[in-house]
Amino acid sequence: MISEKDFIFNQNTAIINEGSFQWSAPSNIALVKYWGKKEHQIPANPSISFTLNHCKTITKLGFTKKSDSSNFSFDLLFEGKPKEDFKPKIQKFFERIEVYCPYLKNYHFTIDTQNTFPHSSGIASSASGMAALAMNIMSLEKELNPAMTNDFFYQKASLLARLGSGSACRSIKGNIVVWGNHKEINGSSDLFGVEFPSEVHANFNNYQDTILLVDKGEKQVSSTVGHDLMHNHPFAEQRFSQAHHNLSTIKRVLENGNLDEFIQIVESEALTLHAMMMTSMPYFILMKPNTLAIINKIWKFRNETRIPVCFTLDAGANVHILYPENVRVETLQFIKDELVGYCQNGQYICDEIGFGAQKL
Ligand code: DP6
Repeated sequence: MISEKDFIFNQNTAIINEGSFQWSAPSNIALVKYWGKKEHQIPANPSISFTLNHCKTITKLGFTKKSDSSNFSFDLLFEGKPKEDFKPKIQKFFERIEVYCPYLKNYHFTIDTQNTFPHSSGIASSASGMAALAMNIMSLEKELNPAMTNDFFYQKASLLARLGSGSACRSIKGNIVVWGNHKEINGSSDLFGVEFPSEVHANFNNYQDTILLVDKGEKQVSSTVGHDLMHNHPFAEQRFSQAHHNLSTIKRVLENGNLDEFIQIVESEALTLHAMMMTSMPYFILMKPNTLAIINKIWKFRNETRIPVCFTLDAGANVHILYPENVRVETLQFIKDELVGYCQNGQYICDEIGFGAQKL
C-alpha cells in the first residue's frame, strides 16, 4: 500500500534557477461531508464531492533560486496587490509540506492569486486556493524530477493540497472525487483524493449547482475549530459510520441514476453536518433564518412540481442548489421568482460540475 513516505522528494535530477507557472483550480461541493479529522489532516470519515466549473482560484507562482536556504521566502499578492494577511496561512502550509518538498527553501517565490468569484462571497476559497498552489508546486517538482509519472504528479498534488486544507485535496482532478479510505471504492485513500472509479449515470452529466449567497460575513466559527469539536463529540462515532454507509449508497446512486435517493442522502448529509455543529460543546449555528426559508421553499417547490432539485450546505449559511441539467430552465425561474429575495444583495452564482485543475 502507498504510504506518506512514498511522497518524500529525494531525486534532484535537474538544476532549475528560475521560472514561473500558472494553474487554476476549482472549488468543490461535498455530497457526503468531511467533518472531523485526526492528526496531519487525516479525515475521520471518507467524503465525496462534485468538482465545480466556474468558481476557481487562479494562481501564478514565480520562483528564483536563492543562496540562503535557511528559511521560506515568498511574496504574496492578491489580485496583483500585496496581501499580508494571507501570508501566515501560506507560511504554515509550507511548514506542513516541507518534509515532502525539501526544495522549497531553495527558492524565493512570488505567489499571485485571484478568485473568479467575489472575494467576500462567503464561498470558501481555501479549497481552490490550496489546490492551485499545490499544482504550481508540483509543476516545479516535475522540472526538478522530469521522470515523475502523471499519476504521481496528481496524487502528490492532492496530498499537498490536503495538508493545506482537507477539502482542497478534492479540487485537483476529476468531476467526482472521493477522499478517505472506503472499502467499496478501489484505490481510495486517506492521503489524497481519487477520481470516483465507476461509470456515472447520464442523469449526473453537467449537474447544476446554483449557489445562493445568504450571508457574506465572516463565519463565527472556522472549519478548523468545528472539526476539532468532533473530538469527544457525543455522536461522533455514529456520524463517522453513517458517512461510510452513505458513501456506499451514493456510490450505487451515482451508478444507477436514482435521483430520489440522491436527494435523500445529499440533504440528510447537509443537515447532519449542521446537527453536529448544534450538538458540539460549545455548540454553534451557522445557518441563518434565510437558509431555513430557502430550504422550506425548495421542499415546497419539489413537492408541487416533482422537479428533482435539492440543497446542500457547507460550513456556512449559503445554500447550494443541486439539479440535473434537463430542469435548468424551470429551476432558474424558480430561483429568480422565489429565492433571490433571500440572498444578500440578490446575489447568486450559477455553476455546474467541472473537471479539476488546469495549467494555464
Ligand atoms: C463542511 O477543508 O475547510 O466543507 O481541513 O480544516 O481546512 P480544514 O477544513 P475544510 O473543511 C470543509 C468541511 C465542509 C465539508 C466538506 O467539504 O467535505
